[in-house]
Amino acid sequence: MSSVRPADQAFNREAIEAVLKRRFFYGPAFDIYGGVSGLYDYGPPGCALQANIVDTWRKHFVLEEDMLEVDTTMLTPHEVLKTSGHVDKFADWMCKDPATGEIFRADHLVEEVLESRLKGNLEARGLNIDAPKEDDKKRKKKVKEIKVVKLEDEVVEEYETILAKIDGYSGEELGEIIEKYNITNPGSGGKLHPPVAFNLMFETAIGPSGQLKGYLRPETAQGQFLNFSKLLDFNNLKMPFASASIGKSFRNEISPRSGLLRVREFLMAEIEHFVDPKDKRHKRFKEVSDLKLRFLPKDVQAAGKTDITEATIGDAVSSGMVDNETLGYFLGRVFLFLTKIGVNPERLRFRQHMANEMAHYAADCWDAELHSSYGWIECVGTADRSAYDLTVHAARTKEKLVVRETLEEPITVEAFEVDFDKKKFGPKFRKDAPKIENFLTTRNQCELENLGDELTKDGKIVVDIDGVEGKVEIDSSLISIEKKTKTEHIREYTPNVIEPSFGIGRILYCILEHSFWTRPEDSARGVLSFKPLVAPTKVLVVPLSSNEAFAPITQDVISSLRKLGISSKADDSSVSIGKRYSRNDELGTPFGVTIDFQTVKDGSITLRERDSTKQVRGSQKDVLAAIQAMVNGTSWEEGTKDLNVFEGQQE
Ligand code: GLY
Repeated sequence: MSSVRPADQAFNREAIEAVLKRRFFYGPAFDIYGGVSGLYDYGPPGCALQANIVDTWRKHFVLEEDMLEVDTTMLTPHEVLKTSGHVDKFADWMCKDPATGEIFRADHLVEEVLESRLKGNLEARGLNIDAPKEDDKKRKKKVKEIKVVKLEDEVVEEYETILAKIDGYSGEELGEIIEKYNITNPGSGGKLHPPVAFNLMFETAIGPSGQLKGYLRPETAQGQFLNFSKLLDFNNLKMPFASASIGKSFRNEISPRSGLLRVREFLMAEIEHFVDPKDKRHKRFKEVSDLKLRFLPKDVQAAGKTDITEATIGDAVSSGMVDNETLGYFLGRVFLFLTKIGVNPERLRFRQHMANEMAHYAADCWDAELHSSYGWIECVGTADRSAYDLTVHAARTKEKLVVRETLEEPITVEAFEVDFDKKKFGPKFRKDAPKIENFLTTRNQCELENLGDELTKDGKIVVDIDGVEGKVEIDSSLISIEKKTKTEHIREYTPNVIEPSFGIGRILYCILEHSFWTRPEDSARGVLSFKPLVAPTKVLVVPLSSNEAFAPITQDVISSLRKLGISSKADDSSVSIGKRYSRNDELGTPFGVTIDFQTVKDGSITLRERDSTKQVRGSQKDVLAAIQAMVNGTSWEEGTKDLNVFEGQQE
C-alpha cells in the first residue's frame, strides 16, 4: 500500500494546514509577538511524532549497526568552521531589490518565476494546470495569480532545461539567467541587483569578552570529526566504523517559506561512516543489493532531463552509477528507514548532485528527495566526503587523525623526505626554526618533489610561511629533500567518510503530506494515516458514555496499555463516538478501543482501525495482544485474525 488517499482525491494543502494548526502539530514560534520566519514550535502530537521518528532512526541505524553515538556542542569556535571551509564557502546566492529592500534567494526566485510562466503557458493553451482538479473556486484563485501568456516551444524547452539544472548553477550563471529572461521582483516588477553570496551561519561571541568568535553549528558532522581519534580508540582501533549524532543545527536561510521545509533551526540526525579509501566494500551490502530504487543520476540532469532510472542497488553499484558499495548500502538503508516510517515509496527518488551543486567538502552526493505539494524536497543527503574534513583539521591542529594498520607483510615504499642539518638549521632561523621545520614536514609528496627540484636547481628554496615575516630562504647546506626507499610495517591512512545526513523536520512534514486524506463521504473529516510505529498516540480509548460503570474499565485498559509501553489516550467527553473518532483520525491515532455495556457484562471490548474503520471484538487480553503485535508491525488482517468481526457501532 503506497497511499491511503483515494486515487481521484487531489491533495489539499489548505485542508492539511487547517488540521495541523487545529491539532497543534506545530506552529510559528513567538506567535503572539508576530512570529519570526523559519522558526517553529512543535505541539504535543508533533513532538510525539518527531520523538517516534528519532526513536526509530536510533534503532534502525545506531543500534542495528553498532554506531557510536555522540552528543557534541552546538556552539562552535570560528577556527573550526574556518578550517572546515564553512566560513568561506557555506553560502547561498541572494538578490536584492534596491527599490523595496526585499531579498530573494536567487535559485528559488528563478525556479518560482519560470514555473509560474510555464503554468501560464499551459493555461493559455487551454490545458488544465491543476490535475487532478481542485474545486473550481480555489483553482480560479490560483490561476489569477499566474500570468496567462503563451510561450514559444523553444522557450518552454529552455525553461524546462534550466529547471532541471537549477541546483547546479553558480551565482554568475544565475545572474545571467535572471538578466536573459528578465526575471524581476515578482511583487513589484522591480529590477534586481546581481546575486551575491550570503553565508548561512549565525555568528556569535563566546564568553563575556566577546573575543572568541563563534557560530551556531550548521551541521553536527564537525563534532564527530573532531572526536575521530577518541572514537577510533573506543572502537578498539577497528575499522570501518560509524559515529552518529542527533541534534539541532542552524542556518540563516535567506527567505524561509514553505513551512517546516525551510527553517532556521532544525533537528538533524547524521552518520559519519569511516572507511578505508582503498576498500569501500560493505560487509552487509548483500542485504540491500536487490532493493530497487528510483535514481536520477547527474548526467541526466546535466542534459536538462529528469527521467528516473529504476535499478537495484546491486546493479547501480556494479554499473558505476553509484560509486561504491558503502554508498549504495546506505542508500538502501535510507530507503528502508523512510518507508518504515511512512514515506510513500512512489514519492521518493535518489537524485545525484551535479558537480557545481556539491557542498565544498563532498566528492559525490545522492539526495533522498521526497515529493510534496512544494515539489521534490531534499530530506536525506548521502555524501562521500572523502578524507576532506579529517585532512583539513589534522593540517590545522597538527593532530594526526589517521588509522594505523599493522601490515601482515611489510611493504617497501618510496617517498620524498626532508632531512635537516639541525646544528645549522636552529641557529640560522632561531625563533622561526620550529615554524619553518613544521612547514617542511607537513608538505605532501607532490610539493616535496617540487621543492626538491628547486633545491637541486637553485641551491635553495624560497617560500612564504604563515607567521614568519617576509620570504624565507633555505639553502641546501641546511636541508636535503630526497626520495628514499623504506620498509614499512604499519600502513597509516586518513579514512574516507560516507555521510547520510537526515533533516528530521523535512521528513516529518513529508510524512504528514503523504499520510493525509479526507473521507470521501465528508471532505471536512481529515485523516492522518500514520504507521502505528510513529503515530503520536497508538490507541484511543472511548467509553460509550459517561456511565460510571465504564470508568474503572477505561482506567484498567489505559494502565494495561501503559504497562505494555503503548501510548494511549482516553476520550470520555460527551460528544458522539463518531465525533471522538474523527478528532483522533486527525491526530493519526491508528486504533480505537470502545467500552460499552457488553464490556461490563462479559469483559469484551471493540477494536477499530482508523483507515478502514473496520471493527473487531474480543476479550481485553486478546485485543491488547493484537494491538501490541500491530504496533510492532503486524498487519491488521494478521493481527486480528482470531478476533470477531463487529458491525454494531456507528461511525
Ligand atoms: N552534513 C550535511 C549537511 O550539512 O547538509
